[in-house]
Amino acid sequence: MTTLRQSIQASRNRPDALPVSAPFSAVATHAPVHPGSVLGVADLTLEQIDHILARASFLTAEDPLQRAHRLAKRKIALLFYESSTRTRTSFELAAKALGADTTLVSNLSSSIEKGESLKDTGLTLRALGAEAILLRHPNSGAPWLLEQVTGLPVLNAGDGMHEHPSQALLDLRTILACLQPGSSSMHARTLDGVTVSITGDILHSRVARSNMLLLPRLGARVLLCGPEALLPAVATRIGPGIEIERDFERALASSQIVMMLRIQAERLAGLQLDLDEYRNSYQLTAERLAAFAPKAHLLHPGPIIRGLELTAEVADGPQSRILDQVSNGVAIRMALVERALTASRSGVTQ
Ligand code: NCD
Repeated sequence: MTTLRQSIQASRNRPDALPVSAPFSAVATHAPVHPGSVLGVADLTLEQIDHILARASFLTAEDPLQRAHRLAKRKIALLFYESSTRTRTSFELAAKALGADTTLVSNLSSSIEKGESLKDTGLTLRALGAEAILLRHPNSGAPWLLEQVTGLPVLNAGDGMHEHPSQALLDLRTILACLQPGSSSMHARTLDGVTVSITGDILHSRVARSNMLLLPRLGARVLLCGPEALLPAVATRIGPGIEIERDFERALASSQIVMMLRIQAERLAGLQLDLDEYRNSYQLTAERLAAFAPKAHLLHPGPIIRGLELTAEVADGPQSRILDQVSNGVAIRMALVERALTASRSGVTQ
């Protein structure tokens, strides 16, 4: 016999084809239905990414009053089934900077708590007038489903352990600002000869995955670093240009960009880690940075856990670009929101 609680849980997660999929497992995805959607980084050609970067710079520099006319009175829903500070706030501020009206629906204060499914929630938002939906969801593939059932442009704000395309784009804007100040333009060879190391909980990180799918397309070498439990050898199969270096100091020594990740406690599912051992091997300290990567730029998508994956001194230090990433989040998301609402089904040019 199914209990009421089980029925509610099943309804919330329908269709049942949307499990919290295992990390690195294949997720059944397809090209977006709507040309304004960005569900994964593979949806965008390099030309489109170049255009998004250019729009991000243009909109950031534009007079705020003028900018606020661009999407005046257009309606955007933010649908968040997981907690978020940077992504949610920057998407909201980006939409508002363009003059759009935004509404936030979160799993903790809506009928989602009562068992409403993703499909019904999406259809409800569309009936309320939403013209685009920004979705964060714990299940891999959820944005593809939402887009298909609503026909609206959907921007993936993080789906489970799968993808976080807007984060990869803001990381790219940050990297370009570090390596070629003054120019955000890029092509397939822009990151030739550049090594980006990503260290930490790669296994559960949608940020790592989207960066692994994006950066090699510009010529970068992505070096993954972490213990076997958080970085299985199969990670390199995600795409070309990806290597594993288990020795953190060696990884640091060859990196121009050092990206650190937190351990995703909420997704560990019983995995036990010896944190002292982890700190000994993988914590980014001022001493390590000075000895092995004194010129590298430090990125971290946040939230940072001071004293675990990096020390407070390093987070606040001169090599840290962590707050630049946050600011770049607003710039990139303005461009993505504008694209979502202006791309036409009859042939998108952006
Ligand atoms: C990341 C996320 O939610 O995937 N944060 C973010 O969006 N800036 C990384 C994380 O939660 O560790």
